Amino acid sequence: MGATGPDAALPSRLPFEIIRDPRAMRARVEDLRRDGLRIAVVPTMGYLHEGHLSLLRAARARADVVILTIFVNPTQFGPREDLSRYPRDEDGDLAKARPCGVDLAFCPDAAAMYAPGAQTFVEVRELARPLCGEKRPGHFAGVATVVTKLFNLTQPHVAFFGEKDFQQLAVIRRMVRDLDQGVEIVGMPIVREADGLAMSSRNAYLSPDERRDALSLSAGLAAAEAAFRGGERDGAALVAAARAPIAAAASARIDYVELRDADELTPVETVTRPAVMALAVFVGTTRLIDNRVLRP
Ligand code: PAF
Repeated sequence: MGATGPDAALPSRLPFEIIRDPRAMRARVEDLRRDGLRIAVVPTMGYLHEGHLSLLRAARARADVVILTIFVNPTQFGPREDLSRYPRDEDGDLAKARPCGVDLAFCPDAAAMYAPGAQTFVEVRELARPLCGEKRPGHFAGVATVVTKLFNLTQPHVAFFGEKDFQQLAVIRRMVRDLDQGVEIVGMPIVREADGLAMSSRNAYLSPDERRDALSLSAGLAAAEAAFRGGERDGAALVAAARAPIAAAASARIDYVELRDADELTPVETVTRPAVMALAVFVGTTRLIDNRVLRP
């Protein structure tokens, strides 16, 4: 890549800092805001890949101060999910993030974020019920709560999230609107490997055979899109097109394949306005998600 491509180092204006204490984070950002600086935050759970780096670069272009948060949030994992084995590599993350122009990394631990006896949660209702909300009870309350806490601690003007977590983005947008949180939410396109696999920290769990079978997710979305471009508007037929390549992959097991209204996430029988084909698939024991918006 040339000097202006994604590998070019982006300038940060402040000396780089890592902050672990939530109160120190809040105090630091209050100073920055008093200086009139525009703050961007990119919340992550670490193990950064090119998708995260695209968020950081977009943030760099839109703000004076870029804050990266790295926190594997326990409240968004169910009791039988992968919290304890979720991949972590803080040094590697910071080495990747700094050339993207990050000024501040906020890396708290769970005890600092959740005081003993913490019992307040943020709940988004209808949007958080179907899809991953149904399959992962409590997940979006954990996400909405931690994102609210991260917003409170980093006081951003603007925050960046990936569209791969389509329902998460919808939930966060609605939460910000409903609670007047006053943060501009920017959704960024899914970043894919050259062969189509959506980038995810969980791809690190896949064996070579599973990695091959994981391509069935993007193949399913491409099949649905092809049917749609060919004039198909029936929801059930589009879902069947998306399911076929996944059903043919030996190590893949469908958690859900659903066509939903792109704004309200309500079921779609016939596509008359933008709809999202949303997938969650276990490949071996790894749960992957992906999606594509179909626009008439
Ligand atoms: O998308 C993620 O990585 C997480 O759900 C988020 C938004 C950082 C909250 O923990």
